[in-house]
Amino acid sequence: RKTAPLPDDIRAMKGGTPIVSLTAYTTPMAQMMDAQCDFVLVGDSVGMVLHGLPSTLGVTMEMMVMHGQAVARGVRSAMMVIDMPFGSYEEGPAQAFRNAAHLMRETGAGAVKLEGGVAMAETIAFLVARGIPVMAHVGLTPQSVNTLGGYTVQGRGAAGAALMADAQAVAQAGAFAVVLEKVPQGLADEITGAVPIPTIGIGASAGCDGQILVVDDMLGLFTAFKAKFVKRYAELGITGEAAIAAYAEDVRARRFPGPEHVFADAAP
Ligand code: KIV
Ligand code: NA
Repeated sequence: RKTAPLPDDIRAMKGGTPIVSLTAYTTPMAQMMDAQCDFVLVGDSVGMVLHGLPSTLGVTMEMMVMHGQAVARGVRSAMMVIDMPFGSYEEGPAQAFRNAAHLMRETGAGAVKLEGGVAMAETIAFLVARGIPVMAHVGLTPQSVNTLGGYTVQGRGAAGAALMADAQAVAQAGAFAVVLEKVPQGLADEITGAVPIPTIGIGASAGCDGQILVVDDMLGLFTAFKAKFVKRYAELGITGEAAIAAYAEDVRARRFPGPEHVFADAAP
């Protein structure tokens, strides 16, 4: 594909070939995934993955703008979606519009993502009616870790009906897709069958309309912990540690720099 899909193109992938997506926070990482991904998400996971924060609650608009600008320089054929950080949209539709417009203006993102179901439906409808495509995010919503009481599986048992209602509410409000995070497989499949927009699973089900992972998780670069839903496709953290150890040994043994890395006194 030559040009990036629009939110409506992503919406139209409902029920078809699964939508491929990853998070990205930097230009080189965005370049690495651009050709393979339908969309890339500048996730607020950047706070934990790149900045060492204990949760996503400390992520600011300024951080999202800076990483969004970096990612924008690396994507051509994938759509770019950017997370609205904690505190930038929950007060109400007007605050959400102001900050979503700021993120899109400063970064060129084609859509924003925000967390919440029924409680955010009015805000989603407000943004969509004013030209801002919205990806919703329900189930485990990490910005609500303090009220959810941890990063536990959402929607098991009797809680399933409320989660289904969240997914239906965001679809009804006009979201073009919805992330389902840490939702039991059967419920994820039920929601996927019930809503008219693509479901993007993370810790959900292979039956979702698409999948997303945090790129540093799947590359083995983020190793503080590994969620069950992460599949490690590489161990770049281990590779990197070994490379740095080899460098340190070379320096201490005066094996680096070698003759090919140094400059002669006279120009050749
Ligand atoms: O911030 C993030 O990385 C996300 C994805 C995991 C969906 O919201
Ligand atoms: Na996020």
